[in-house]
Amino acid sequence: MSIIAEIKSRRAIRDYDQRDVENEKIKTLLETATWAPNDRMREPWGFYVIKGEAKKRYEALANEYLQERFPTKPHLIESSLKALKTTPVHIIVTADIVPGDKEASLDNEYAVCCAVHSMWLAAKELGLGLVWRTRGVGLVRDARMFEFIGSPENKKIIGNLFIGYPDGEALKKAKAPARTSFEEKTVWL
Ligand SMILES: Cc1cc2nc3c(=O)[nH]c(=O)nc-3n(C[C@H](O)[C@H](O)[C@H](O)COP(=O)(O)O)c2cc1C
Repeated sequence: MSIIAEIKSRRAIRDYDQRDVENEKIKTLLETATWAPNDRMREPWGFYVIKGEAKKRYEALANEYLQERFPTKPHLIESSLKALKTTPVHIIVTADIVPGDKEASLDNEYAVCCAVHSMWLAAKELGLGLVWRTRGVGLVRDARMFEFIGSPENKKIIGNLFIGYPDGEALKKAKAPARTSFEEKTVWL
C-alpha cells in the first residue's frame, strides 16, 4: 500500500448503497481517528454517532431547518432530505474548546481536522464512502444540531460525516476534481 497513492485516490462519496454499516466498522473508524496528531496530547475530539432511530429524529430536525431556511425552494428541500434519508450513518465530530485559551482551542480544531482525514482514508480501506459536510443539511453551524447532540459544554462541532457503502454506479461516475499544481501554491524562500 502506498500512502501517497491512497491519499490521491480518496474521494468525497455522496451516494450510498442502502445496506447498513456494521458497528464494528464504525468503531474502527473511531479508533483510527484517535491516533491523529494533537497538541500536548489533549486528544480534543468527540464523536456522536447517528444511526437508526436517532436518524429519524435528525431527519425531522433537518426538515424543520430546510422549511425555515428555504421556504420558496421545494426542490432544494426535497433533494436535501433525499441526501439525508439515503445516508446510512452520520458521525458528528467535535473539538474541545479550552476556556480562555483561543490558541489552544484553534490547535484542537486542527487536530480534529487531522482525525477526520484519517477517518476518511480508513473508510476507503474498509470499503466505505464518506463525505465531510459543513454546509446545508449537515447542520454543522445550526444550534439545532448542537442541541441534538446534548449541548456538550466547551465543544464545537467541526463536521458531520456522511457515511455508507458507496453506490456502485455513482462511484463509476465520480471524477477526481482537478487539483491546482502545488507550484502555484508554493513559495520557496
Ligand atoms: C471542511 C470541509 C467541508 C466540506 N463541506 C462539504 C459540504 O458541506 N457538502 C459537500 O457536499 N461536500 C463538502 N465537502 C467535501 C468537498 O466538497 C470535497 O472534498 C471536494 O469537492 C474535493 O473532492 P474530493 O474530496 O473527492 O477530492 C467538504 C470538505 C471539507 C474538507
